[in-house]
Amino acid sequence: MTFHDRLHCGLLSPSDAGKEVVLAGWVDALRDHGEVLFIHLRDRSGIVQIVFSPESSGEEVCVLAGGLKSEYCVHIKGRVVKRVEGTENPGITTGGIEVVAEELTILSKAGTLPFQISEKSMVAGASAKRDEAVAEDLRLQYRYLDLRRPTMQGHLIKRHRVIKTVRDFLDEQGFIEVETPMLTKSTPEGARDYLVPSRHYPKNFYALPQSPQLFKQLLMVSGMERYFQIVRCFRDEDLRPNRQPEFTQLDLEASFIDEEFIYALFEELSVRMFRIGGIELPRPYPRMTWLDAMNSTGSDRPDVRFGMTFKDATDIFAGTSYSIFKQILGRGGCIKGINVKGQSERLSKNVLQNEYAKEIVPGFGAKGMTWMRVVENGLESNIVQFFSDFERQEILSRFEAEKGDVILMIADPSWSLVCSALGQLRLHLADRLGLIPEDLFCPLWVTDFPLFEAAEHGVTSSHHPFTMPDRTDFDPENIEELLSLKSRAYDLVMNGEELGGGSIRINDRTLQNRIFKALGLSDTDVEEKFGFFLKALEYGAPPHGGIALGVDRVVAMILGTSSIREVIAFPKNRSAFCPLTEAPSAVAASQLAELGLLDLGGAQTLPGTTEQQDLIDSLSWVSRIALNDAERPAITAAVADARALADLVKNKCGDHEPMFSVVTVANRTREGTAPRVSAFAETGEIFKNAPAEKGGYFKVAGILE
Ligand code: AMO
Repeated sequence: MTFHDRLHCGLLSPSDAGKEVVLAGWVDALRDHGEVLFIHLRDRSGIVQIVFSPESSGEEVCVLAGGLKSEYCVHIKGRVVKRVEGTENPGITTGGIEVVAEELTILSKAGTLPFQISEKSMVAGASAKRDEAVAEDLRLQYRYLDLRRPTMQGHLIKRHRVIKTVRDFLDEQGFIEVETPMLTKSTPEGARDYLVPSRHYPKNFYALPQSPQLFKQLLMVSGMERYFQIVRCFRDEDLRPNRQPEFTQLDLEASFIDEEFIYALFEELSVRMFRIGGIELPRPYPRMTWLDAMNSTGSDRPDVRFGMTFKDATDIFAGTSYSIFKQILGRGGCIKGINVKGQSERLSKNVLQNEYAKEIVPGFGAKGMTWMRVVENGLESNIVQFFSDFERQEILSRFEAEKGDVILMIADPSWSLVCSALGQLRLHLADRLGLIPEDLFCPLWVTDFPLFEAAEHGVTSSHHPFTMPDRTDFDPENIEELLSLKSRAYDLVMNGEELGGGSIRINDRTLQNRIFKALGLSDTDVEEKFGFFLKALEYGAPPHGGIALGVDRVVAMILGTSSIREVIAFPKNRSAFCPLTEAPSAVAASQLAELGLLDLGGAQTLPGTTEQQDLIDSLSWVSRIALNDAERPAITAAVADARALADLVKNKCGDHEPMFSVVTVANRTREGTAPRVSAFAETGEIFKNAPAEKGGYFKVAGILE
């Protein structure tokens, strides 16, 4: 047998009946009927059933086939036959035929599998019973097996098609793909850099690019006019489900253009990308200013698949005697609310008061929430008696309220807190009440972002410092004026997710310098970090602008996967760790010495520090509590104390009775000891201080990914 005439399993059809074929692939599943053995043979194209029987295959082949196991890699020669009526399998595309084996070669055996790979049942109508709950870290540890699954192969194939569509389209539009360096200097995108030490320049470091921002702008100075790149970017930032430490951008820049050029280009491009997944996006994409987005949804990436947008009620309560609102408005605050249309049956007083007002909304950062149910003759709630007739009437008309609606309001001295808490509440309710239409894709351009955000000592860039402001006559030392500037930046948002972002850039050295000054950078800092770039702006830099799209996020949205890790061949896990290669890992002292890093005072601490940092990052991720630099030392110390205590328990208390457990758990610190269930757990006494309890468990806020 040779591979020369090999055909693909999934492409065989009833028209091949009678043909001699050579196939190669993996044993997906087996069914032994005594004399006759069936296997599903799988290659990248699909699955076909192979039959081994003594009459057609001969004794020797049948004996060999009897030793086959799942995921053996095999080579088969046989004859295609139509299946007997009633034995067809509509679950596979080749279910109308099978291949009667004549020759078999085992190319490579497979050991016991860590999880089931087969996704297709051999029996029509039955499910393949794959355990969907395979731990993700196990899947990532054996990613090469996980990627054998047709679903995962399908993801990578679709990703390839999407990227190919991008390349073809941009090529048609006159864009040139240019590669930019991976070993480079820091490109500020708001994250920490991944640093790479240099052996040739001991104690000096390259930074991996957070994006090719500076290089793509330099390419415009070079006169490339239209550049793009499918490029890996690296960001050491707080972990979130839709973030990876290394991810792929479709990065693009063009000269002599304005915002409209980018909108038109990217609408056409994204329409084509989504079409690969059979999704037709509606054009033109609506546009919304950042301020409108915040005021109506509390988010700079609004999910506009459903309504429930905010109404401002501040003016209604301008003369209120309701003391809480009065105090808040006296401090310059605001009141905003939403109308949860027709949901009062599903949102009882108890749910509104005890779950939302007391538990959920405080979790979003607001001090409280005001709720009102709209009933036959007005409003019903625990505080509505404090409102005047005018206020009640105005609420009903402002929120276009009808019987059966629920009106929720949040008031606070801080506008941004009101927006953010009400925005989270809007999403929480929409999700809980099933108000988000499935299979709807709502693209949106968000524009007119503030150029700067307030920071501890002055301002910081909302996007990056190379973004063109809406006006250039500002005083770089006047913080209030700086905070009033808008940028010529735009984000492409879909279904509440930021898919891409970009801006028109500064191409004037003096203006760029003033922005750096506004950011509080000293002349020395600017020269050291960006001197090379500023110099380029002195040599006829053309007006230019661009955008970058998160490829992983786009593909995940097209395929509707639960996380971007599903569309990346070898992603890091939720803690930025690679279970397959076990990276990051400690390095030999000799390597550190070679890099001149031993005498940085870091020789002893470096590997340990990384380990500790990872632990803190993991805890931060698991608890969904973002830590800033100021909080890190205290948490690090607390974790070290807890570990010391655990060590003490492990080493010194070996003879003592184990402590009580609420439920049956594994005792990690004293392996081999059986936990005792506390009697207080059985009586419920143990929950007496719990904020909420359900079915014998402490109740905590839901965690969504
Ligand atoms: P920005 O920082 O907005 O812009 O990034 C562009 C897009 O990249 C995706 N993205 C990520 N995807 C996965 N994991 C991450 N950690 C991650 N971080 C970002 C998002 C985001 O919208 N240089 C500018 C672009 C420009 O101005 O042209 C930039 O990088 O989908």
